[in-house]
Amino acid sequence: MTDNTASRPHVVEFRNVSKTYGEGTRAYTAIKNVNFVVEDRPDHGEFVAILGPSGCGKSTVFRLIAGLSPQHPPSTGQVLVFGKPVNGAGADRGMVFQDYTSFDHLRVIDNIAFGLECRGVPLTERRDQARLWIEKMGLNPATDAMKFPHELSGGMRQRVAIARTLILHPRIILMDEPFGALDPGTRYAMQDLLVKLWREQQATVFFITHSIEEAVYLGDRVLIMSRAPGTILHELRMEHSTRPARDVQREPAFLEAVFKVRDIIEQLEKPA
Ligand SMILES: Nc1ncnc2c1ncn2[C@@H]1O[C@H](COP(=O)(O)OP(=O)(O)O)[C@@H](O)[C@H]1O
Ligand SMILES: [Mg+2]
Repeated sequence: MTDNTASRPHVVEFRNVSKTYGEGTRAYTAIKNVNFVVEDRPDHGEFVAILGPSGCGKSTVFRLIAGLSPQHPPSTGQVLVFGKPVNGAGADRGMVFQDYTSFDHLRVIDNIAFGLECRGVPLTERRDQARLWIEKMGLNPATDAMKFPHELSGGMRQRVAIARTLILHPRIILMDEPFGALDPGTRYAMQDLLVKLWREQQATVFFITHSIEEAVYLGDRVLIMSRAPGTILHELRMEHSTRPARDVQREPAFLEAVFKVRDIIEQLEKPA
């Protein structure tokens, strides 16, 4: 058996990346010397969870990966995706935000099909694909397809937002606090759905959350960032569970792992 991992370019690599917004007396350094590598594993995209206090630069890191300005380009250092410096947005990277990023004036089916429309996929074909995604997301093609976003619950809207991104099969999925506004029950259901979709798509997922439980449950790896200017203070490897979020997250072993991460964060945040 040959191990070809070494020859595959890294999915994402940050080399000493810093970002300063503004100039002169208004200059503000949001992230400083951020370094990490996510390797391309042949049969398993990694799930990378990112924890850190508000304003520490988590979204800045994401938008640098996505190649979106004004975060892109970095002030110093290099952001590489599949071995090449990022020079703008690209179809290999898709983003999902906390505030549901669907178009209010488009029906569910056309919201989900929007990216395909941009790619020039004909109407019937893109609606067929969108219908499959409606089903995959646990929505009802018969009753939900023709609804507008304002007719949906928060959880349903977030399903639409995720489907809009995943229908394009990005190799890297960037999720910025996607479940932060959901009630606990809906959140467990969304975590389970996400794990299932992630396994199917074999994409690399970057996931920002404020919930240590969520990071420990979802992450293969958890990156812990410092207060601003943000940098990565700690990386932890996690056991990935295949069982439902609601069950796992009440088990002693899981809670023990959560306490460990909480202790690490508290230790890191103590003034020197
Ligand atoms: N476009 C911008 N211009 C100026 N400052 C910004 C800009 N975007 C973010 N910041 C600042 O950079 C810091 C980090 O922001 P952000 O990456 O959104 O943090 P987080 O997502 O961790 O809450 C914050 O202090 C924020 O105000
Ligand atoms: Mg943010």
